[in-house]
Amino acid sequence: MDASAHNDNVMRLGDLVLIYLDSRRQYLVQVSENLNLSSDLGNMALKEMIGKAFGYVGETHLGHKYYCLRPSTADLMFKVKRKTTIVYPKDLGYLLVETAVGPGSRVIDVGTGSGALAMVLAKIVAPDGMVFSYERREEFLDNAKRNIARAGCTENVKFYCRDVVVDGFDAQTVDAVFLDVPEPWAIVPVAETVLKGGHHLVSWSPNVEQVKRTVDVLKENHFIRVRVSEIIERDLLVRQQGIRPRERGITHTAYLVRAQKILVNSKD
Ligand SMILES: C[S@@+](CC[C@H](N)C(=O)[O-])C[C@H]1O[C@@H](n2cnc3c(N)ncnc32)[C@H](O)[C@@H]1O
Repeated sequence: MDASAHNDNVMRLGDLVLIYLDSRRQYLVQVSENLNLSSDLGNMALKEMIGKAFGYVGETHLGHKYYCLRPSTADLMFKVKRKTTIVYPKDLGYLLVETAVGPGSRVIDVGTGSGALAMVLAKIVAPDGMVFSYERREEFLDNAKRNIARAGCTENVKFYCRDVVVDGFDAQTVDAVFLDVPEPWAIVPVAETVLKGGHHLVSWSPNVEQVKRTVDVLKENHFIRVRVSEIIERDLLVRQQGIRPRERGITHTAYLVRAQKILVNSKD
């Protein structure tokens, strides 16, 4: 279960905890009565955490310190079992504030992929909103369901195994549509039919050619305020000998498209 559901900051059986030894040794684990976590710096018994507060400092059997931290949403995203590429926190964080999505919203997510986006959306729309998540490949959907169950978000996601271009959506009148597929332009016309007027469609694409086709189709289908951005993130190395950007890292993820639907023939 999601540890943040309790306010007392105590780690319980089944809670997700980020065990941090150092920047190269970080593990997202579920507190358990009978499992041990092993690393080259020693073993850690997960039952030791039960009843302790987040922030607890333990010792491996080889005497190295480990720290029990509350996982961030980005940690949960990066630790999903991946069968596909996933959306990146820098892009999703930005896109979320570029929509009107919040607690109680009903949103569409295509394709489910590894479930990283669906999981974050489920957290945002909780407790009484819903994510309608569509994926055409059953093996990806099965993996995503496991990832979302592990994050404790199952109650706020409904899954559908289908090709949306062929079979469309069941969900009606949603507050936002999120598209992370190779051919978003093919889904725009059907997305328009289920999106509330004035609300947002957002789409991720790694290539400029995809963006061009998507923008063209958005403009043909009653979407306005069409905007495209790229979010560039740069980590800094902070050391005694000097502070400078890291020379390696993720250089490109996706171009971000967002647009808002207008109602045709509406006079009021
Ligand atoms: C890049 S992955 C999505 C990753 C996901 N957003 C995440 O964060 O884990 C793209 C997924 O879209 C699915 N897909 C592509 N076209 C689709 C369509 N027309 N209908 C349903 N799923 C589709 C693919 O099978 C793939 O799993």
